[in-house]
Amino acid sequence: MVRHVRRRTPAGRSPVTDAFHGAAKVPGARPPGQPRETTPAGPILSVEDLRVRFGPTHAVSGVSFQLRPGEFYGIVGESGSGKSVTARAIVNLLSASATVSGAIRFRGEDVLAASEARLQQLRGAEIGFVFQDAIAALDPVYTVGSQLVEALRAGPQRLGRAASVARAGALLAEVGIADPGRCMASYPHQLSGGMRQRVVIAAALISGPSLVIADEPTTALDVTVQRQVLDLLRGIATARGLAVILITHDLGVIAQVCHRVAVFYGGLMVEEADTRSLFRNPRHPYTAALIESLPQLGRRVPFRAIPGVPPQIRAPLAACPFAPRCSRVLPVCTARVPEETLAGDRRHRCANPRP
Ligand SMILES: Nc1ncnc2c1ncn2[C@@H]1O[C@H](COP(=O)(O)OP(=O)(O)OP(=O)(O)O)[C@@H](O)[C@H]1O
Ligand code: SF4
Ligand SMILES: [Mg+2]
Repeated sequence: MVRHVRRRTPAGRSPVTDAFHGAAKVPGARPPGQPRETTPAGPILSVEDLRVRFGPTHAVSGVSFQLRPGEFYGIVGESGSGKSVTARAIVNLLSASATVSGAIRFRGEDVLAASEARLQQLRGAEIGFVFQDAIAALDPVYTVGSQLVEALRAGPQRLGRAASVARAGALLAEVGIADPGRCMASYPHQLSGGMRQRVVIAAALISGPSLVIADEPTTALDVTVQRQVLDLLRGIATARGLAVILITHDLGVIAQVCHRVAVFYGGLMVEEADTRSLFRNPRHPYTAALIESLPQLGRRVPFRAIPGVPPQIRAPLAACPFAPRCSRVLPVCTARVPEETLAGDRRHRCANPRP
């Protein structure tokens, strides 16, 4: 019943429902609430040279990154930069029209080669999702309690009714809902936006995932509630040792909670750094422009919107996609796609980076 109405899997079930209803118990899956086994030495997720095309649209043009266990990783960029497509590719939730290449490994397992049954296990037991639109993710005709209980009963642990009710209440308490009993008896429309989003976070935690992908989870909320929900997510991630990918178009959101940030533009990752370094010393002109466009309390200069519009990439990239909007553009920038430059723990794709 917990649902996401805008996208259906081939089997006719919604991805969010599938995420909560893993088809079978994953070997070695740990019951929710139990301590995680020893942290694996390698990355929990590895994405290598991911490319995604929808017909002529080159949505993602070669993205690589690794996610460490317990890490809060932000992906930021303007509309159409490939953030959601990258996130959906991680568990193969892209529409059938997508052409995907590259490699995606979750805990060492090749996700792109996984069967649909195995993907449903992964989505059900190991990877949770939180989408922007909580109202669309919840079924309006069932109470919150019945949706969570149904998801728990059908989930990998196959809990009985009484245990599911108790577990649903505990999950709601974990996401900061003061009166879980009352919340469980409510229909989604009877809850505030912030409470609905907390319920969706609770639902994403049902199977005790080791990775949560949150795609614009707070965009629909006002600033105060947004802060509360972000703090909640960060707190839960820390307590559970969860890795989180937080997707947003708002660098201010990243600054609040993320350890590391990837900046996307035109289907490329144009910069990646730890959050502090990125804000102190952005190397890529687009990152710098994003930071300058942040409104700041007490700043005398008016904030500057980035001139121009984000590109629609309708052919393989042959130049830096930011060139038409870039104040540091050189002839070489329009001659080829800039190579990625590694500098310690950070990297950028720019032929003329900021010092
Ligand atoms: N199913 C699809 N069919 C065709 N094109 C698609 C499809 N899904 C995404 N795209 C295109 O891929 C590009 C990247 O889309 P994506 O949804 O990843 O952007 P985004 O960075 O998440 O943007 P937003 O901030 O608006 O959510 C866009 O040009 C988009 O129109
Ligand atoms: S490669 Fe050139 S056009 Fe692109 S961001 Fe760097 S300086 Fe600007
Ligand atoms: Mg998106």
